[in-house]
Amino acid sequence: MDVPVIAVDGPSGSGKGTITQMLARRLGYHLLDSGALYRLTALAAQRQGVSYEDVDGLARVAGSLDVAFQPTPPGEPARVLLDGQDVTSEIRTETCGDNASKVAVIQPVRDALLQRQRDFCQPPGLVADGRDMGTVVFPDATVKIFLTASAEERARRRHQQLLEAGVDVSIDALLDEIRARDDRDMNRASAPLRPADDAQVIDSTGLSIEEVLGKVMAAAGQA
Ligand code: C5P
Repeated sequence: MDVPVIAVDGPSGSGKGTITQMLARRLGYHLLDSGALYRLTALAAQRQGVSYEDVDGLARVAGSLDVAFQPTPPGEPARVLLDGQDVTSEIRTETCGDNASKVAVIQPVRDALLQRQRDFCQPPGLVADGRDMGTVVFPDATVKIFLTASAEERARRRHQQLLEAGVDVSIDALLDEIRARDDRDMNRASAPLRPADDAQVIDSTGLSIEEVLGKVMAAAGQA
């Protein structure tokens, strides 16, 4: 049976996380947060004392991740367990995101995570959130969306999120981090971030979450 897959790719801070959670809930589909797998690989490597230069060690860590995603009430991100321990907040830090983008440039790490990501494709359907969902992991996805926003807007959104969490970081520092992460994600040799040839590009700059969701639902043919 053909399981529908909605692949949503884009840079960090484009709103993909929120939008894909809402979309999966509305459609009653499973959700793959592929970035979490790269974040978990970075965290597990750190805990096991594996250096980010040790390619074989990192591939082994990625291939043997003991991970569970537990559903939470609507509006909250899934709880993420690593080796049975709740790491939901720990993997969301800027440092972990930055480390994730370092391990993500390593092809053997990407290879080790490929099948695990494809295993999320189960009836009645899947919403897949990442950088290479439409280009590499699900090249035959039913719908491919590339969600983007200007770097300035993404820095502003991240600043707001952090303020709400009680963390005050300068917008300029966030903008520098976002640009550095974009640069690493877009210019790496393995599965660089880019829209699939058949992706529909949606720019969320200046749009509310509901407006973006409306556009994504329309692109997905579900509006
Ligand atoms: O989406 P998120 O910010 O959680 O991803 C963290 C990092 O993991 C990204 O900056 C990117 O380098 C990497 N990643 C990737 N391919 C994916 C998802 C995430 O390379 N499909």
